[in-house]
Amino acid sequence: GSSTIQFKIVLLGESAVGKSSLVWRFCQDQFSETIESTVGATFIHRVMDLGEYSIKLQIWDTAGQERYHSLTPMYYRGAKGVIITYDVTNNDSYEKAKDWVNEIRTQGTPNAKIVLVANKIDLEDHQVDQMEAMKYAESNDLLFFECSAKTGEGVKDVFFGLSKALPVK
Ligand code: GTP
Ligand code: MG
Repeated sequence: GSSTIQFKIVLLGESAVGKSSLVWRFCQDQFSETIESTVGATFIHRVMDLGEYSIKLQIWDTAGQERYHSLTPMYYRGAKGVIITYDVTNNDSYEKAKDWVNEIRTQGTPNAKIVLVANKIDLEDHQVDQMEAMKYAESNDLLFFECSAKTGEGVKDVFFGLSKALPVK
């Protein structure tokens, strides 16, 4: 059989946008309203079967609280894939996501594949305009997905979309 290539990927975004919930939904197919805010970062790996080949994702889920910001370069260093999440009901979290995009572009791995993720689409009262986010993603060469860690809608697409975009050779 063919060898499995490993990729480091990292999740970034403001606290409480649902980074850990996305990982939990994807890896365990579970969700909790009372999940605890991440301290530092957590790590999990996951093999992705993409049909013609498999890759191994080494997933770093970082803490979004501001006091951990200075630690994050340690986690995004060497990451070939970056998942930047915002909460569709929180415009500040969208602005923060754009700050993360700029930080990765200037200080992250050159040519890192970035996915912009609009989470919590199960909720009403969206503050962030879907079209505006899609245009921003397109003009900044980002993949864009909308999902809900709560219902599970769209969550697999985030991880498979990124995995397929990672450079295997
Ligand atoms: P930090 O670890 O502090 O950076 O936060 P985080 O981005 O990991 O967020 P977390 O996954 O801890 O989720 C924060 C809160 O949002 C929790 O109460 C979750 O249950 C809730 N939540 C996460 N995803 C969703 C979603 O898709 N829909 C709804 N309604 N709530 C969600
Ligand atoms: Mg977390």
